[in-house]
Amino acid sequence: MRKIIASLLFLSLFTACKSEKEKWSLNSPNGQLNLSFYLNEKGIPAYFLHYKNQMVLDTSTIAIVLKNAPSIQENFTAIESSHRSFNEVWEPVWGENKRIKNQYNELRIHLQENTDLKRAFFIVFKLYDDGIGFRYEFPVQKNMDSVIILDEQTQFHLTADHLAWWIPADYDSYEYHYSKSKLTEINAVDAGYVQRHDRNCGNLHAVNTPLTLKTLTGLYLSFHEANLRNYSEMTLAVKDDFVLQSELVPALNGNTVELTTPFVTPWRTVQIAENAIDLVKSNLILNLNEPNVLENTDWIKPLKYNGVWWEMHIGKSSWDFGTGKHGANTENTKRYIDFASKNNIQGVLVEGWNTGWENWDDKIFSLTEPYPDFDMEEIVRYAKKHGVNLIGHHETFGNVAYYDSIVETAFQYYNKLGIQYVKTGYASGIIPKEHHHSQYMVNHYQKVVELAAKYQIMIDAHEPIKATGLCRTYPNMMTREGAKGMEYNAWGDGNPPSHSTILPFTRCLGGSLDYTPGIFDIQFKSERKDQYVRSTLANQLALYVVLYSPLQMVADLPENYEGNPAFEFIREVPTDWDSTLILNGEIGEFITIVRKEKNSENWFLGSITNENKRNLTITFDFLTKDKEYLAKIYQDDEKSHWFRAPTLYTIKEQKVNSSTTMNLTLAEGGGAAISIHLINEQNNKIN
Ligand code: NOJ
Ligand code: CA
Repeated sequence: MRKIIASLLFLSLFTACKSEKEKWSLNSPNGQLNLSFYLNEKGIPAYFLHYKNQMVLDTSTIAIVLKNAPSIQENFTAIESSHRSFNEVWEPVWGENKRIKNQYNELRIHLQENTDLKRAFFIVFKLYDDGIGFRYEFPVQKNMDSVIILDEQTQFHLTADHLAWWIPADYDSYEYHYSKSKLTEINAVDAGYVQRHDRNCGNLHAVNTPLTLKTLTGLYLSFHEANLRNYSEMTLAVKDDFVLQSELVPALNGNTVELTTPFVTPWRTVQIAENAIDLVKSNLILNLNEPNVLENTDWIKPLKYNGVWWEMHIGKSSWDFGTGKHGANTENTKRYIDFASKNNIQGVLVEGWNTGWENWDDKIFSLTEPYPDFDMEEIVRYAKKHGVNLIGHHETFGNVAYYDSIVETAFQYYNKLGIQYVKTGYASGIIPKEHHHSQYMVNHYQKVVELAAKYQIMIDAHEPIKATGLCRTYPNMMTREGAKGMEYNAWGDGNPPSHSTILPFTRCLGGSLDYTPGIFDIQFKSERKDQYVRSTLANQLALYVVLYSPLQMVADLPENYEGNPAFEFIREVPTDWDSTLILNGEIGEFITIVRKEKNSENWFLGSITNENKRNLTITFDFLTKDKEYLAKIYQDDEKSHWFRAPTLYTIKEQKVNSSTTMNLTLAEGGGAAISIHLINEQNNKIN
């Protein structure tokens, strides 16, 4: 287990008793964020929030609606409160940064009801320089044992009709393109979101988080939750007077969340920044999770992977053995292994290796029986010989009742074969009829991660519950989908160029994303003629840096990379980082990220734009002073265009140092990717 490397600093711990109508206040460590909490004349808990003297959240109340018991809402008195300060630096097992600062001031208020029930709970606020997290903690108590929560009504009272980047509050999926509208214009019907039969948006005026806003005064806010465990997901509904109010995803039996005391809710979070790029820098979600609990993490390793995957999505082959064009056969899998081992790709995913795909709708997949043309033992031997990790696949098609009954056997099967990575999938409605984002499923996803850890298996979850930072506690929870990924370019409505310029400021604020980048045959004319990827090739390269994932797919077919000089960038780009800097960006417009490879002096830069061509100036002042580096620049050609000429690009090399500035021209839907290697002074060679 990694050690926390900096001292824990506790300051000004004190306890105070305050009478009703008094206010409690809390400042962030730099003093710029200020919270006020009070109980109003009805004993209703309320808070408001200022950033640099500007009101960000106006008076916002909280309430929890219970079944068979009065709501937790009013008539409360504070019986105790305490402040403390906390400051540490911790090291994640993998990530965008080798060290993460976790500094906050905390206010904990013990509230008790003025009725015979005397129900009590704590509200805990943590103020960071980059935002706030707060949650409710219910201790064991006489009049609250088993609790059925019908809804939680936590308010975030905004001050005006801000601009929002949003996806609807679908209880089963985050696979949507983002809409941009004023808060009061959030409407899933107007946005065209509810046309598909499998869409399940309970409230048409509600959103899934992270929800990112730009305020009328130019501040950037993002609303989300952290440490979502044993609870259902929070969506946010738009109410009158610019109030966002939590709405929990319901359960089949109508009991939204069932708990027994003691319990804590997930953290409700608001990240606050003056620039969009500062939202992307924030580590607040990770910081609000518990430290790693896995004793040994030596087996947890980020990697790049290719696989028998895209060829099925574009219709070249099939998951299903019975079609006569089965992709996951021994010979084809070996082809991917050969390509991986030659090209610094450490993993190979195989989908469709197991029986059951011929009757998708039966939702019964064997997770231990390969199809007859897939010689598992031989493939395991071959992969090992070539130093490549296999990535197993558990598609459940949503049959969670069945999966729960076989998942341990399935992990044991992979464990015996030495397979340490598993991609899971929940590509349809859940059996039993619970929502993907319900408490039942939150618990299921968590159970799979913990069970996987027991067998030293790392997880890449598709159709997952949203990322809320639990990878800090369980670092084998590597990555997940939970967004419209590359697959929609193969058979769906296609992701517009702006999509990947919105993701870093929205979905990715929750955590790593398995977007599956790297398509070189952008127009794949030989297969589905009407489908194509809406980006240039240089943009595909840049996604390896822009969209962070510790398991990063090299998604295209080996033959589409073979002989293409641009592939060198993918071959080289790492998946684990010392540090990350966001150089520029605006939501839905463009973003440039540069990352330093873990334990190395090499840097990798990715820059992408939306439908608009643009020039960006890059300053290389992040490089170590007085050192020379060789930059290899992969960028759009003058004529590149996401539709007209997506595969045109140029490559050039240039020496750079910390005083270099460079102008990059990104084509419509384009991008630029740069590898930057330190030049070894002794022999003038790059490291
Ligand atoms: C949907 C997943 O997102 C995709 O990656 C996978 O190939 C299919 N389901 C089949 O499991
Ligand atoms: Ca999917």
